[in-house]
Amino acid sequence: MDINRILRETFVVEAEHREELGSTNDRAMQRTKQGASRLPLLVIADRQTAGRGRGGNRWWTGSDSLAFSLLLESAAVEGKKDTPRFTLGRRSNSGPNVLLGLGAGVAVVESLKPLLENVEIGILWPNDVMAAGRKLAGILVEVLPNGRTIIGIGINTNNSMADVPAELLPIATTLLDLTGKRQNHTEILVTVLNRLEEQITILKCAPAELAARADALCLQRDKPLAIQHDRKTVAGLCRGIAPDGALLLETPDGLRSFYSGTIIK
Ligand code: BTN
Repeated sequence: MDINRILRETFVVEAEHREELGSTNDRAMQRTKQGASRLPLLVIADRQTAGRGRGGNRWWTGSDSLAFSLLLESAAVEGKKDTPRFTLGRRSNSGPNVLLGLGAGVAVVESLKPLLENVEIGILWPNDVMAAGRKLAGILVEVLPNGRTIIGIGINTNNSMADVPAELLPIATTLLDLTGKRQNHTEILVTVLNRLEEQITILKCAPAELAARADALCLQRDKPLAIQHDRKTVAGLCRGIAPDGALLLETPDGLRSFYSGTIIK
């Protein structure tokens, strides 16, 4: 990993690269408690022993995959003052950073697409990155009590499905398995971080544009799906992603918007 190149070519101002960590999100959280002041801070781990996913799930960090977290100042991801609907962090009123998560999904898809000729790649709301119908990358956005935000991204790069836990066999994929080629992690990181910076800029000045990009990549559109929200399951036909980042579901009760929830099918 060429940390100097990452510092030179991206908006990251400090980077910590470890052979092993429990979770890069947890380490970023610890760094903020220790008073990290040079942000954006990037934390990368070659191995995670306790990688975390959304909804309390675990994240399998296969050997030679990419796992990193970016710690951002809250102001770095807040919308303009006259668009409070799109502010993030504790003041968010549009679900837990749904737009930032979508932006990260867009950044990952746009970065990996050129590596995957003739493979369909897109997003499952809120921010799973899928390729050839299987999960290629996952994103975990967390807001800390001090308003800082952590964007954790795991990408199945040079790991192989040959080593995957049995339960993931039918649902996950890796760049190596899809292309037969090993990728350069520094190259991917530089590209993803630059795309992420672009999305954060768009989020601040034109959030609906970010949502439109995510909508264009949404693989659920016009498909039946069910979401678990507030301990209830709501089923309907997906009508894509709204300009404020909500998942649109056409239900027997009309068109409904969801800002959070777990997709169950
Ligand atoms: C999901 O799909 O449920 C989200 C997975 C997010 C995994 C990444 S790997 C880097 C960062 N550290 C973690 O513990 N989780 C995120």
